[in-house]
Amino acid sequence: MISTLQSRMLRGADGDPAPRLAYGADYNPEQWPRDVWEEDVRLMREAGVTVVSVGIFSWAKIQPGPDTWDFGWLDEVMDLLHAGGIGVDLATATASPPPWLTTAHPEILPVTANGETLWPGARQHWRPTSPVFREHALRLVRTIADRYKDHPALVAWHVSNELGCHNVYDHSDDAARAFRVWLRARYGTLDALNHAWGTAFWSQRYTDWEQILPPRLAASHPNPTQQLDFKRFSSDALKDHLVAEREILKEITPDIPVTTNFMVMGNTKGMNYPDWADEIDFVSNDHYVHPGPQDRDELSFSANLTSGIAAGRPWFLMEHSTSAVNWQPVNVAKRPGELARDALLHVAHGADAVCYFQWRQSAAGAEKYHSAMVPHAGADSDVFRAVAELGATLRTLAPVAGAERETAAVGILYDWDSWWASEQDSHPTSLLDYRQEALDWYSALLALGVRADLVTTRADLSRHQVLIAPVLHVVPAGLAKELTRYAEQGGHLITTYFSGVVDENDHVWLGGYPGALRELLGIRIEEFGPLLAGEDVELDGAGPGTLWTDRITVTDATDTEVLASYRTGVHAGRPAITRRTTGTGSAAYVSTRLGIDGLRSLLPRLLEPAGVSSELPEDARGRVELTVRRGATERFLFLVNRTDETVPVTGLAGDVLVGDDRTDDALVLGPRAVAVLRQAL
Ligand code: GAL
Repeated sequence: MISTLQSRMLRGADGDPAPRLAYGADYNPEQWPRDVWEEDVRLMREAGVTVVSVGIFSWAKIQPGPDTWDFGWLDEVMDLLHAGGIGVDLATATASPPPWLTTAHPEILPVTANGETLWPGARQHWRPTSPVFREHALRLVRTIADRYKDHPALVAWHVSNELGCHNVYDHSDDAARAFRVWLRARYGTLDALNHAWGTAFWSQRYTDWEQILPPRLAASHPNPTQQLDFKRFSSDALKDHLVAEREILKEITPDIPVTTNFMVMGNTKGMNYPDWADEIDFVSNDHYVHPGPQDRDELSFSANLTSGIAAGRPWFLMEHSTSAVNWQPVNVAKRPGELARDALLHVAHGADAVCYFQWRQSAAGAEKYHSAMVPHAGADSDVFRAVAELGATLRTLAPVAGAERETAAVGILYDWDSWWASEQDSHPTSLLDYRQEALDWYSALLALGVRADLVTTRADLSRHQVLIAPVLHVVPAGLAKELTRYAEQGGHLITTYFSGVVDENDHVWLGGYPGALRELLGIRIEEFGPLLAGEDVELDGAGPGTLWTDRITVTDATDTEVLASYRTGVHAGRPAITRRTTGTGSAAYVSTRLGIDGLRSLLPRLLEPAGVSSELPEDARGRVELTVRRGATERFLFLVNRTDETVPVTGLAGDVLVGDDRTDDALVLGPRAVAVLRQAL
């Protein structure tokens, strides 16, 4: 992956063989008259832009009718960019079908669970499983690839755009047909499906595949395993589309890397990205800040998780914003320093490219109030000056290109199946928020200055001395074995409430919770004790707790220590937080939601058996985020000031690659500033 990225994207179209970080944006020249294009290229060069994504929403312009094509403008744009030394990440343009297609074929439009059609007028109004859409989309891909296969500006292919952003769940008849095919492949027989879906319940037994539907609007709670499988299927249907486009691109241009932009951010959970990552040559991500108390922690978390999805290898930040977006209830502008800090935080977590949506702010259309590299005010603006300054910083950071994530002592396991299943309906509580729980553990570690890697179940978990698995709800037998081995062989597992409860079919592991992890944790839970909104419980030795409690009995008293007990609530006097020693490691259980402050107080005790603590000097902990990227001969320490104050950081060795010079052995980080130290290996 690194070599593909470096060979094309990082070297760009200007022929300069030196690796570098890519810089750029979505570029939509079709929204502008011809004379603006020349100025665009001039300003791109001024800003240090190396790559742009072109044609993402150009289907209607490229193919104005079923058999008419208009490539003249795109030829010219490609040539102009190439002459300016700017590489093109060329879109396959399939993201938004044109009006002529939806008029001729309304059967490609997605249908909601309520049976409503999503009409054209916005974008991405297509069914992932529509054979008609697929045929037209692939014809477009082939035509574009044939035309530009030898163009020197072409450095990568950008498949569609944010697959699933608006159309991940389609409940149409096409979806029903494809769902049945998917289920046949998964289960083989109807008996196996009936067992997996628990159809003995509520008289749901199927006797013919044709009886099976997507979980459409129903009289009560749809079957939970049907819901979970529909989530898996919907992710796979989009992946299938990605693969279909990729196959054509690889057939025509085997040497051009293919990517598609993921949306690892906020509550976007429809697409199982760890499962998609193997299908592309390099991982790309889009990220937008959602203003709030944890907003920059969330940015760091998402960038970190993207790195986990990319297995620690460099990835591509395909979109973020220079300032405000247009789609939040109130769209807040970034403060001075945030444009660079946000971008560099992605680089700190492995991004080898920094790109924006979009190059030039639109004058018309739904996104005209969305910021861009060149705002409505033009190049004579603070935003453009900050953009050009960041371009210069990224040039300085060229030695970082290709460096991988250096494994941290702590891993946080993030699992799509558990995310999907734990938040389904008819559960002990509807207030459980999988991502928020994981984010709170991450925020608590940031507050302690302890570096952690977000990892997926595809990673080698044994690389981390401590593995935190919040709400690991779905635990198939194989994963239970792996976690048991992990702890026995010296790893320190920490898990929480509602973990280990079900298998891959969403069937409860019987005999007491947390079923699959019961022996490993040395505890048994007879009953869950969810708390009402606003309710909390006091703990001796930690707390307070909200959301959840468990009625815990310690079953392995010899090896299991009670770290905290409930002082109030129905389980008063019983254990709340436990740790069992097993082999050379341990397994801890936290039965309630402690929030950032509670976790921050508890974590030093949980990390202690592994001997893990902050690598930062004491006075920088919590105020500065540290990440490390490791190259072949050197490592890079990124120090990100999380505060609005100046923070001196003492005692870290290395040459200053970015940031103020040292004064009296201290590296001084201004408000929201980022410094990068380089250490020889
Ligand atoms: C992304 C999308 C872009 C643009 C951007 C605005 O979801 O890929 O095309 O809409 O959001 O923030």
